[in-house]
Amino acid sequence: MQEQRKETEFSDIDLKQWKQYDDVLVETLWLLGPRDKTEPHAGDYWGNFIPQIPYQVLTRFTKRDHVVVDFFSGMGTTLIECRRLGRHGIGVEIDPTIARRSTERIRSAPNPYDVYTEVLVGDSTAQETVDRVKTQLAGLGAPQADCVILHPPYHDIITFSEINGDLSRAGSTEAFLEQFGRVAEHASTVLKPSGFMALVIGDKYANAQLVPLGFYCMQRCIDVGFTLKAINVKEIQNNERGKGRNGNLWKYRALVGGFYLFKHEYIMVFRKPAHK
Ligand SMILES: C[S@@+](CC[C@H](N)C(=O)[O-])C[C@H]1O[C@@H](n2cnc3c(N)ncnc32)[C@H](O)[C@@H]1O
Repeated sequence: MQEQRKETEFSDIDLKQWKQYDDVLVETLWLLGPRDKTEPHAGDYWGNFIPQIPYQVLTRFTKRDHVVVDFFSGMGTTLIECRRLGRHGIGVEIDPTIARRSTERIRSAPNPYDVYTEVLVGDSTAQETVDRVKTQLAGLGAPQADCVILHPPYHDIITFSEINGDLSRAGSTEAFLEQFGRVAEHASTVLKPSGFMALVIGDKYANAQLVPLGFYCMQRCIDVGFTLKAINVKEIQNNERGKGRNGNLWKYRALVGGFYLFKHEYIMVFRKPAHK
């Protein structure tokens, strides 16, 4: 007779077999290795995260048939992983061209558990977009999402589009944080009590000083009521943030300017408090 499983309310990791989950991270330093390029994943969208990030988040903080909302879905990495792992996924992307291309890519991914994945074209800072996300959730019979993923632009490090409302076009750090704060608030509205949220974000330099975007965004999430569960640091391999062949030049600039080159970004984990 098979021994009964033991699970938390938020993950289908079998705690009776906890030693066997070799690929599931529980430590704060994330060395994930090269990008998983299993089709249809590809590294062709400048600014997409590696699939191992949503894989880790979904494995630890969701169960089969749970619903995941990604408010900055880009080329759909989260939704492709949702299909692979049997989670429903709703993405929001402001750029219609990227939304269309990502929809094609997501639909080409195997869907062995027959889950629902949909990308909405919209501005995640807008109330109207949240209302549409709620309509999608209702269509799935879920009053709220089980998990939220936020991978916003790291302010103006990469300009994603010319569209008003795109966070990468915010005129100042304060304006960026104001927009991000609204999305954090929307995330809190759509997420169920006790649900988990992951924020993937990096810092930047401007005017010869470090702007700790990660910690500023973290504070906005705390301000809207989330509980902070983890600050994970992920190594950036081969400097995905655009150092490229000018690596030596950047080293020279770092030495001259008295700064350090970014080799990390954050995966911060939050939890919405349970109903009182
Ligand atoms: C860092 S990328 C996310 C990449 C995604 N994780 C992936 O793997 O493809 C940020 C995305 O947010 C989109 N974006 C920027 N502002 C937005 C907004 N207000 N609402 C929705 N999407 C937005 C950008 O067009 C871009 O595709």
